[in-house]
Parts: sequence; structure tokens; C-alpha cells
Amino acid sequence: MAPKARIRMKSILAIYPGSFDPVTNGHLDLIERGAKLFDRLLVAVLRNLENDPLFDIAERVEMMAESTRQWPNVEVDVFEGLLVDYARRRGAQVILRGIRAVSDYEYELQMALMNRRLEPQIETVFMMPAETYSYLSSRLVKEIFRLGGPIHGLVPPVVEQRLRAKVT
Ligand SMILES: Nc1ncnc2c1ncn2[C@@H]1O[C@H](COP(=O)(O)OP(=O)(O)OP(=O)(O)O)[C@@H](O)[C@H]1O
Ligand SMILES: [Mg+2]
Repeated sequence: MAPKARIRMKSILAIYPGSFDPVTNGHLDLIERGAKLFDRLLVAVLRNLENDPLFDIAERVEMMAESTRQWPNVEVDVFEGLLVDYARRRGAQVILRGIRAVSDYEYELQMALMNRRLEPQIETVFMMPAETYSYLSSRLVKEIFRLGGPIHGLVPPVVEQRLRAKVT
């Protein structure tokens, strides 16, 4: 008797969590890489931030949805509470995080190991952005904008528009 062919259909869902206040081209670089590697990528926007966000949760989600429209396997959602609880609920196997420089490493390592302790079934995967974005953060974008510097090329067009609308 011929052995039964074992077909394993495995589809990987990865979650990319962050505050995205606002989304930058560095985040989008990572999302594009993640969307290529994983079957589905769920961008999870953290609802409650420790410091007051510049953009409320609805604005952050809208800007993210608009900026990721071109990738059909990318979905945008909101989460709060423990990331691993949310990941479990959504059936995700992977948490995607970005590493820009050595400075990100220590915090990200701590988070990854704690998340592994909380949920050993979920793997954290790190990706590096293009060098051009390796010094880009939401905090820096807001600071440059506040001081009147050029933010063109650092954020998607929708964020540029919304930032301008904030001051007019
Ligand atoms: N330019 C970038 N390139 C690669 N990864 C990035 C970049 N900016 C942020 N990330 C990663 O995206 C994830 C979410 O980050 P987060 O929402 O804190 O963005 P941020 O730009 O660091 O914002 P903030 O300045 O408010 O901390 C983290 O894993 C972070 O390391
Ligand atoms: Mg950050």
C-alpha cells in the first residue's frame, strides 16, 4: 500500500505591532519586507500610549491603512493589553519587529525574551530596514516638523498632509 501523501498547508500570519504615531517610511520599508516573507501581515496599532500621542488611534489607523493599501496581504488592526494575548487571539505565529541600530537591540531583546516566556509558541523575527531609514523614528519626524524642518521623503504623503493640517 502506497504511503499517504502528507500535505501540510501552513500559512504564516505575522503581527507587526507599534504605536505608529505617525507611520514613517521606515515602518513601511519593514512592512513591505514582511509582506513578502509572510503569507499575511497584520499591522497592530497600539491604542493607549504612555505619552500623549500626536495622532489619536483613529488617525493613526487611517494613515496606516491608506499607506499600506498597495499590499493585499497586509491588514491593519488596533490592539491593547498584552501583545501575546492579542497574537494568540488572532492565531499569529510570528511577531515582527525592526532593528535600526544597536540602540534598539537591548530593548527589543528584552521584549522578545519576555514575550517568549509568556508564549513560547510565538517567535519574534527581526528585520533591518534599508540604510536610508536606519535613523528614522516617529519621534524624530515630529520633532523635525515642529521645528519647521523638511519631512518630505521621511513619511508617506498622507502623513505629510495630516501634519500640515495640524498646524493650520
Ligand atoms: N526606521 C525604522 N526602520 C526599521 N524599523 C523601525 C523603524 N522605525 C521603527 N521601527 C520598528 O518598528 C517597531 C514599532 O516601532 P514604534 O511604533 O516605536 O516606531 P518608532 O518610529 O520607533 O516610534 P517612536 O519614535 O515613537 O518610538 C519597532 O520594532 C521599531 O524598532
Ligand atoms: Mg520606538
